Amino acid sequence: MPKDPENNKKEVKQGLSRRGFLGSVGAGAVVAVSLKDTAPARAQEIEATGETATLQLIINGSKRKVLVEPRWSLAYVLREVLGLTGTKIGCERGECGACTVLIDGKTQYSCMTLAVEAEGREITTIEGLMQGDKLGPVQQAFLEEDAFQCGFCTPGQIVAVEGLLRRNPEPNIDQIRTGVSGNLCRCGAYKHIFNAAEKASRLKKQGGAS
Ligand code: FES
Ligand code: FES
Repeated sequence: MPKDPENNKKEVKQGLSRRGFLGSVGAGAVVAVSLKDTAPARAQEIEATGETATLQLIINGSKRKVLVEPRWSLAYVLREVLGLTGTKIGCERGECGACTVLIDGKTQYSCMTLAVEAEGREITTIEGLMQGDKLGPVQQAFLEEDAFQCGFCTPGQIVAVEGLLRRNPEPNIDQIRTGVSGNLCRCGAYKHIFNAAEKASRLKKQGGAS
Protein backbone atom coordinates (compact mmCIF):
# COMPACT_ATOMS: atom_id res chain seq x y z
CA MET A 1 0.00 0.00 0.00
CA PRO A 2 1.18 3.56 -0.59
CA LYS A 3 2.89 5.05 2.38
CA ASP A 4 2.38 8.35 4.14
CA PRO A 5 2.98 11.25 1.72
CA GLU A 6 4.81 13.34 4.31
CA ASN A 7 7.31 10.57 4.90
CA ASN A 8 7.76 10.19 1.18
CA LYS A 9 8.52 13.90 0.76
CA LYS A 10 11.11 13.64 3.52
CA GLU A 11 12.73 10.72 1.70
CA VAL A 12 12.88 12.68 -1.54
CA LYS A 13 14.49 15.59 0.26
CA GLN A 14 17.05 13.24 1.76
CA GLY A 15 17.92 11.90 -1.67
CA LEU A 16 16.26 8.53 -1.07
CA SER A 17 13.46 8.62 -3.61
CA ARG A 18 11.22 5.58 -4.01
CA ARG A 19 12.42 5.23 -7.60
CA GLY A 20 16.04 5.23 -6.51
CA PHE A 21 15.28 2.66 -3.86
CA LEU A 22 13.34 0.44 -6.24
CA GLY A 23 16.15 0.67 -8.74
CA SER A 24 18.65 -0.60 -6.21
CA VAL A 25 16.58 -3.56 -5.04
CA GLY A 26 15.33 -4.37 -8.55
CA ALA A 27 18.79 -5.21 -9.79
CA GLY A 28 18.38 -8.84 -8.74
CA ALA A 29 15.22 -9.53 -10.73
CA VAL A 30 15.87 -12.14 -13.39
CA VAL A 31 13.25 -11.31 -15.95
CA ALA A 32 11.83 -7.91 -15.21
CA VAL A 33 13.84 -4.90 -16.27
CA SER A 34 13.88 -1.53 -14.58
CA LEU A 35 12.49 1.53 -16.30
CA LYS A 36 14.43 3.85 -14.04
CA ASP A 37 17.12 4.65 -16.56
CA THR A 38 14.66 5.33 -19.34
CA ALA A 39 11.98 7.17 -17.36
CA PRO A 40 10.88 10.20 -19.35
CA ALA A 41 11.75 13.65 -18.04
CA ARG A 42 8.09 14.29 -17.22
CA ALA A 43 8.04 11.27 -14.90
CA GLN A 44 11.10 12.54 -13.11
CA GLU A 45 9.56 16.01 -12.76
CA ILE A 46 6.30 14.61 -11.37
CA GLU A 47 8.19 12.38 -8.98
CA ALA A 48 10.32 15.25 -7.74
CA THR A 49 7.29 17.44 -6.93
CA GLY A 50 5.52 14.80 -4.86
CA GLU A 51 2.20 16.25 -6.08
CA THR A 52 -0.67 14.35 -7.68
CA ALA A 53 -0.71 14.41 -11.46
CA THR A 54 -2.99 13.30 -14.27
CA LEU A 55 -1.44 10.61 -16.41
CA GLN A 56 -2.55 9.10 -19.65
CA LEU A 57 -1.82 5.39 -19.51
CA ILE A 58 -2.22 3.06 -22.48
CA ILE A 59 -3.62 -0.14 -21.04
CA ASN A 60 -4.62 -3.10 -23.17
CA GLY A 61 -4.89 -0.80 -26.16
CA SER A 62 -7.11 1.80 -24.48
CA LYS A 63 -6.07 5.24 -23.27
CA ARG A 64 -6.99 5.79 -19.63
CA LYS A 65 -6.67 9.07 -17.77
CA VAL A 66 -5.85 8.63 -14.11
CA LEU A 67 -5.03 10.92 -11.23
CA VAL A 68 -2.07 9.45 -9.39
CA GLU A 69 0.36 10.27 -6.66
CA PRO A 70 3.95 10.02 -7.87
CA ARG A 71 4.77 7.32 -5.32
CA TRP A 72 2.04 4.95 -6.48
CA SER A 73 3.19 1.78 -8.16
CA LEU A 74 1.72 0.67 -11.45
CA ALA A 75 0.38 -2.44 -9.69
CA TYR A 76 -1.50 -0.26 -7.21
CA VAL A 77 -2.97 1.94 -9.95
CA LEU A 78 -4.02 -1.06 -12.06
CA ARG A 79 -5.80 -2.74 -9.17
CA GLU A 80 -7.05 0.01 -6.92
CA VAL A 81 -7.68 2.85 -9.36
CA LEU A 82 -8.61 1.03 -12.56
CA GLY A 83 -10.08 -2.16 -11.08
CA LEU A 84 -7.86 -4.47 -13.14
CA THR A 85 -7.50 -7.00 -10.36
CA GLY A 86 -6.15 -9.78 -12.56
CA THR A 87 -2.72 -8.41 -11.74
CA LYS A 88 -1.87 -9.76 -8.29
CA ILE A 89 0.30 -8.32 -5.56
CA GLY A 90 2.26 -10.91 -3.59
CA CYS A 91 5.54 -9.72 -2.15
CA GLU A 92 5.41 -6.13 -3.45
CA ARG A 93 9.19 -6.07 -3.58
CA GLY A 94 10.22 -7.70 -6.83
CA GLU A 95 10.59 -11.26 -5.66
CA CYS A 96 7.52 -13.28 -6.64
CA GLY A 97 6.37 -12.09 -10.08
CA ALA A 98 2.65 -12.17 -9.24
CA CYS A 99 2.36 -8.58 -10.51
CA THR A 100 3.99 -9.22 -13.90
CA VAL A 101 2.68 -7.17 -16.82
CA LEU A 102 4.07 -6.39 -20.25
CA ILE A 103 5.36 -2.89 -20.89
CA ASP A 104 6.16 -2.27 -24.51
CA GLY A 105 6.00 -6.04 -24.91
CA LYS A 106 8.55 -6.83 -22.20
CA THR A 107 7.88 -8.50 -18.87
CA GLN A 108 7.97 -6.10 -15.96
CA TYR A 109 7.15 -6.27 -12.26
CA SER A 110 4.39 -3.71 -11.90
CA CYS A 111 5.01 -3.47 -8.14
CA MET A 112 8.51 -2.21 -8.96
CA THR A 113 7.36 0.28 -11.57
CA LEU A 114 5.97 3.67 -10.71
CA ALA A 115 2.81 4.53 -12.61
CA VAL A 116 4.41 7.79 -13.75
CA GLU A 117 7.22 5.83 -15.38
CA ALA A 118 4.74 3.85 -17.45
CA GLU A 119 3.06 6.86 -19.02
CA GLY A 120 3.02 6.69 -22.81
CA ARG A 121 4.09 3.03 -22.87
CA GLU A 122 1.98 0.10 -24.01
CA ILE A 123 0.88 -1.74 -20.88
CA THR A 124 -0.61 -5.21 -21.26
CA THR A 125 -2.21 -6.98 -18.32
CA ILE A 126 -3.66 -10.47 -18.04
CA GLU A 127 -7.04 -9.00 -19.04
CA GLY A 128 -5.50 -7.78 -22.28
CA LEU A 129 -4.57 -11.31 -23.36
CA MET A 130 -8.20 -12.24 -23.94
CA GLN A 131 -9.35 -12.52 -27.53
CA GLY A 132 -12.79 -11.01 -27.22
CA ASP A 133 -14.78 -13.37 -25.02
CA LYS A 134 -12.33 -16.21 -25.60
CA LEU A 135 -9.13 -17.10 -23.82
CA GLY A 136 -5.91 -16.23 -25.58
CA PRO A 137 -3.56 -19.09 -26.51
CA VAL A 138 -1.42 -18.87 -23.38
CA GLN A 139 -4.46 -18.70 -21.13
CA GLN A 140 -6.00 -21.66 -22.98
CA ALA A 141 -2.81 -23.67 -22.66
CA PHE A 142 -2.69 -23.10 -18.89
CA LEU A 143 -6.28 -24.28 -18.64
CA GLU A 144 -5.70 -27.40 -20.73
CA GLU A 145 -2.47 -28.32 -18.93
CA ASP A 146 -3.98 -27.73 -15.49
CA ALA A 147 -1.09 -25.38 -14.80
CA PHE A 148 -2.26 -24.00 -11.48
CA GLN A 149 -3.41 -25.02 -8.04
CA CYS A 150 -4.43 -22.03 -5.90
CA GLY A 151 -4.11 -19.79 -8.97
CA PHE A 152 -2.59 -16.80 -7.23
CA CYS A 153 0.61 -16.81 -9.27
CA THR A 154 -1.18 -17.76 -12.48
CA PRO A 155 -1.83 -14.34 -14.05
CA GLY A 156 1.81 -13.42 -13.58
CA GLN A 157 2.96 -16.79 -14.95
CA ILE A 158 0.74 -16.41 -18.02
CA VAL A 159 1.97 -12.90 -18.73
CA ALA A 160 5.57 -14.07 -18.28
CA VAL A 161 5.01 -16.87 -20.81
CA GLU A 162 3.35 -14.41 -23.19
CA GLY A 163 6.40 -12.16 -22.92
CA LEU A 164 8.72 -15.12 -23.49
CA LEU A 165 6.86 -16.28 -26.59
CA ARG A 166 6.84 -12.79 -28.08
CA ARG A 167 10.62 -12.68 -28.00
CA ASN A 168 11.16 -16.39 -28.63
CA PRO A 169 8.15 -18.13 -30.26
CA GLU A 170 9.61 -21.63 -29.97
CA PRO A 171 11.60 -21.86 -26.75
CA ASN A 172 13.17 -25.09 -25.59
CA ILE A 173 12.63 -26.34 -22.06
CA ASP A 174 15.70 -24.55 -20.69
CA GLN A 175 14.58 -21.28 -22.25
CA ILE A 176 11.11 -21.78 -20.76
CA ARG A 177 12.60 -22.40 -17.32
CA THR A 178 14.67 -19.26 -17.63
CA GLY A 179 11.79 -17.29 -19.11
CA VAL A 180 9.54 -17.86 -16.09
CA SER A 181 12.30 -17.93 -13.49
CA GLY A 182 11.18 -14.54 -12.20
CA ASN A 183 7.81 -16.00 -11.26
CA LEU A 184 7.44 -18.12 -8.16
CA CYS A 185 4.71 -20.68 -7.56
CA ARG A 186 4.29 -21.57 -3.91
CA CYS A 187 2.10 -24.53 -4.95
CA GLY A 188 4.93 -25.99 -7.00
CA ALA A 189 2.99 -26.35 -10.24
CA TYR A 190 6.14 -25.79 -12.29
CA LYS A 191 5.98 -28.98 -14.36
CA HIS A 192 2.49 -28.09 -15.55
CA ILE A 193 3.50 -24.48 -16.13
CA PHE A 194 6.39 -25.60 -18.36
CA ASN A 195 4.04 -27.94 -20.23
CA ALA A 196 1.59 -25.08 -20.69
CA ALA A 197 4.33 -22.85 -22.10
CA GLU A 198 5.21 -25.54 -24.66
CA LYS A 199 1.55 -25.97 -25.58
CA ALA A 200 1.06 -22.19 -25.83
CA SER A 201 3.93 -22.04 -28.28
CA ARG A 202 2.19 -24.66 -30.44
CA LEU A 203 -1.20 -22.94 -30.15
CA LYS A 204 0.27 -19.59 -31.15
CA LYS A 205 1.95 -21.21 -34.14
CA GLN A 206 -1.41 -22.64 -35.19
CA GLY A 207 -2.85 -19.15 -34.98
CA GLY A 208 -4.69 -19.08 -31.68
CA ALA A 209 -6.33 -21.14 -28.99
CA SER A 210 -7.74 -24.56 -29.81
S1 FES B 1 4.25 -8.49 -6.14
FE1 FES B 1 5.62 -7.72 -7.61
S2 FES B 1 7.24 -9.14 -7.65
FE2 FES B 1 5.94 -9.85 -6.01
S1 FES C 1 -0.71 -22.10 -8.30
FE1 FES C 1 -0.63 -21.49 -6.20
S2 FES C 1 1.08 -20.16 -6.17
FE2 FES C 1 1.15 -21.00 -8.14
